Amino acid sequence: MAPPAVDGAEALERIAHEIRSCTRCPLHQQRTQAVPGEGPADAPLLFVGEGPGAEEDQQGRPFVGAAGRLLDRLLTSIRIPRERVFITNTVRCRPPGNREPHPDEVAACLPYLVRQMSVLHPRVVCLLGATATRALLGSDQKLNQVRGRALREGGRWWFATYHPAAALRSASLANALQEDFRRLRRLVDVEWGTEDPARWKPGALHKIFADPQPTEPVVVSEAGTLRVSWEVRGVHPTFRTESALAELLRRFVLRQRRAEAGVVLEVVKLQTTDGSGRPVPPESPDCTHLHAEVCPVGSGE
Ligand code: URA
Repeated sequence: MAPPAVDGAEALERIAHEIRSCTRCPLHQQRTQAVPGEGPADAPLLFVGEGPGAEEDQQGRPFVGAAGRLLDRLLTSIRIPRERVFITNTVRCRPPGNREPHPDEVAACLPYLVRQMSVLHPRVVCLLGATATRALLGSDQKLNQVRGRALREGGRWWFATYHPAAALRSASLANALQEDFRRLRRLVDVEWGTEDPARWKPGALHKIFADPQPTEPVVVSEAGTLRVSWEVRGVHPTFRTESALAELLRRFVLRQRRAEAGVVLEVVKLQTTDGSGRPVPPESPDCTHLHAEVCPVGSGE
């Protein structure tokens, strides 16, 4: 007989149970208790911090100290209830003196996050600080270069920003963090509950534009390939990455071609240029146009 199905909350509790008794790295030796993370199993948004601090270590809950209180205020400011999101950390035991976790400690703990994510399937993952950003996006990633922008990878959005603890020490980082949370809200608005592009709510479309009179992509069919041109001048900075533009384009084209529902589209070529056709990166202020080829790759069955 097949084993009974495990629901999401139960699966998360099993992972949490393992984390609480984990001895995979030396951090377990000095902890009061491990901090697995918390939130509902259907949370569409996941936050990943660095590691528990003193208060988290005492309470066994993530982000309950000063940084947590700032995170709560940021969430309130963008009207997202803390109870609707899942909050966890890159490492689950407090590093002594709140030092940065070592790479081998991060590597030992990461499988827990991978397992939690395979239960949660979050549509948007927000990485708080450089440690989470390097652990999830790659060790060569510089927080300053990726923060505040939507990156599309592995079927979900990744969004890195400063750690709230850093913002407590610097007014300019606090302002940048607040601005990034406004951008995060934009990303969540576009994504939340709208997986199927055919059901993408018209209102949500406006969230990707900074310009009140945006242009939509122009699609021309050519022997199985769709050639797309798009004036991207007005696209909000959150979505000005190559991976985000490619994903948005794919969705725009799917929405326009609703009759072909079930067809999976792949953006095979994407070039961003300035007004005179010179290639420039999408985040460049000179970038005004996008040219792409989009191909159907089969049925979505
Ligand atoms: N800082 C973190 O990175 N995580 C917490 O849970 C608390 C503070």
